[in-house]
Amino acid sequence: MTESLRFLMCSPDHYEVDYVINPWMEGNIHKSSRDRAVEQWQGLYHLIQKRAIVDLVTPAVGWPDMVFTANAGLVLGDRVVLSRFLHRERQGEEPYFKAWFASNGFTVYELPKELPFEGAGDALFDREGRWLWAGYGFRSELDAHAYLSDWLDIEVLSLRLVDERFYHLDTCFCPLSNGYLLYYPPAFDAYSNRLIELRVPVEKRIIVAEADADVFACNSVNLGSIIIMNRASTNLTQQLNALGFEVWETPLTEFLKAGGAAKCLTLRVTEPVPTGRELGLQSMIENRTVLLEGHLLDSGLINRALDLIVEGGGSFQVLNFELGEQRQSTSRAEVKVSAPSHDLMEEILSQLIGLGAIPSTREVCDIHLAVVNQMGVAPEDFYVTTIYPTEIRINCEWVRVTNQRMDAAIVVHSTPTGSIAECKLLRDLVVGEQVAVGVEGIRSVRNPESRDQRHTQEFSFMGAGVSSERRVELVVEQIAWDLRHIRDRGGKVAVVAGPVVIHTGGGLHLSQLIRDGYVQALLGGNAIAVHDIEQSMMGTSLGVDMKRGVSVRGGHRHHLKAINTIRRWGGIRQAVAQGVLNSGIFYECICRGVPFALAGSIRDDGPLPDTQMDLLQAQADYSRLIQGSDLILMLSSMLHSIGVGNMTPAGVKMVCVDINPAVVTKLADRGSVESVGVVTDVGLFLSLLVRQLERLTHPLKAG
Ligand SMILES: NC(=O)c1ccc[n+]([C@@H]2O[C@H](COP(=O)([O-])OP(=O)(O)OC[C@H]3O[C@@H](n4cnc5c(N)ncnc54)[C@H](O)[C@@H]3O)[C@@H](O)[C@H]2O)c1
Repeated sequence: MTESLRFLMCSPDHYEVDYVINPWMEGNIHKSSRDRAVEQWQGLYHLIQKRAIVDLVTPAVGWPDMVFTANAGLVLGDRVVLSRFLHRERQGEEPYFKAWFASNGFTVYELPKELPFEGAGDALFDREGRWLWAGYGFRSELDAHAYLSDWLDIEVLSLRLVDERFYHLDTCFCPLSNGYLLYYPPAFDAYSNRLIELRVPVEKRIIVAEADADVFACNSVNLGSIIIMNRASTNLTQQLNALGFEVWETPLTEFLKAGGAAKCLTLRVTEPVPTGRELGLQSMIENRTVLLEGHLLDSGLINRALDLIVEGGGSFQVLNFELGEQRQSTSRAEVKVSAPSHDLMEEILSQLIGLGAIPSTREVCDIHLAVVNQMGVAPEDFYVTTIYPTEIRINCEWVRVTNQRMDAAIVVHSTPTGSIAECKLLRDLVVGEQVAVGVEGIRSVRNPESRDQRHTQEFSFMGAGVSSERRVELVVEQIAWDLRHIRDRGGKVAVVAGPVVIHTGGGLHLSQLIRDGYVQALLGGNAIAVHDIEQSMMGTSLGVDMKRGVSVRGGHRHHLKAINTIRRWGGIRQAVAQGVLNSGIFYECICRGVPFALAGSIRDDGPLPDTQMDLLQAQADYSRLIQGSDLILMLSSMLHSIGVGNMTPAGVKMVCVDINPAVVTKLADRGSVESVGVVTDVGLFLSLLVRQLERLTHPLKAG
């Protein structure tokens, strides 16, 4: 027995699975045997007693989980941070543990109410004393970690748990002597796994398989070279033996029914205070406060923001919430965001900025700039733009960024009249330019989403997934009204189209839309033009007769013949001028002076002389043609629609028609409320659209 080593345990006199607060308890209520539990607990007690002193806390009636003393608190030297249980079912244990610590000479630290932390279940010292690993995600809050580092004067490394079976850190993570670590990586998020890999060299990491994790192999008590656990596979035992560890198995199946095993049943109360640590490394946790304003509840914005924080590895506290009382009035929330590191905080904040969050007035400061020192390469940590109008703060003034688009950098120029800012693609950055970095002093300006807008969007996207023809018709009626309205006031509609438009018989309808003045720019690839021309010249699309719907003998060569003809004349315009091409979408574009841009791809046959094979130039052509659009109609081309979506700022209505809901959702994911998705056949959509526009033009005839 080592005199200096002490553990706290609590006999299972009142142990029982009485409620469900973790997945292990599910289906196990009143299924454990008290006698077997006592026998198993004593087995563990005697093993530990061989190497350490075991102190006992008196079990209390009505608190069956008191047996899991790991959750009493976290001890370092003569200090203990008392647990604040998340679940009411365990909160009654707190005074009993507090009394024990106080009467045994510990200085007891208590966290603020409402800040859950479940003791050594969620906080494990590196056995070399270098730092404290602390878990969050289920039972303990990230914000509690900052208190641990302050009170215990130790660096805290925060790890986020993501698998609810492993709801406490000690269920899937066990630091061992000599710097070894026994753990189950899938229980952690990617950032946490990276952090573990940075701190523990590969030869010291012992990864357990799921089968071992499931029998709580990580929930072990480590005493020097001995590891006490419920059970270990032969593989794991051999692996540990090879590293100089001895595995002592002791069955604890009755406690597994409540989600605990060896480690959960013990609390090490002699933790030596490490010495000689570097100062300034105490805690990497960062806190920031942001404000969100808008129809936070009915637009779902507050949920999206809070989900985003948690999914990004952070945690939050809503400090203030002012609810808008009238239907049209907006709400306002002040949210404290915590993240386990500076990098994660920046990632979370940049996404919150995209949702319209602004730093609280107390924290607002000017933008940070860094200089471009390599052509076409932004400084590390540059701010990546979104589709939303953005402002940056320079010399205490908010300046609107121009050329808004997503996935660009913000370049700031100084002029005699002040600073100006613009979005620039990475490849266009020039050495010496100043680029916005980090997330300070940046905000995006979003119109508050109203309840009605939100419902329209949901109707379109969700309804479309299960769309009846009538539902599609309703959306088409709205789009027809928009097209009509935009045309009549001299606005601009850009159409992005893929070759499926032709294959589904939509070419005739799109031609008519162009002829009737509803289209001001057309964007596509080589294929839409090739098949449109093939249909015009030979009546087929990809060799299929468009009138009879059957393949034509030798038809698979038709599109190549069409390409060859256009190449012979030097381009589409020349072919129209020569009377070789006299119908179809591109014929109408030439006749009506509607500009078009065809972007090349690796799949292209030919290509047509009009297809731009220099992709940077093609992107520039697209960008020029969509400038000033009021509405962009995206018709069955994933490649070109997503390309256009990325260069379109918020405020432009986008209508995406595709048979594949995933493509429609992908565009909706830009988060723009102006977007409408229609999951349907594009040929059907275009025929309904043309019919509806005719109804608007000749109401009596159509009715
Ligand atoms: N011969 C050629 O030169 C040739 C042929 C094909 C494609 N391409 C080129 O390849 C690139 C990608 O082509 P793309 O835009 O056709 O492909 P894409 O995969 O980007 O998009 C096709 C989209 O059409 C959707 N779709 C399929 N059937 C539909 C229907 N009945 N109704 C509605 N939507 C439907 C699909 O779900 C898909 O999202 C383009 O640049 C194109 O020019 C060239």
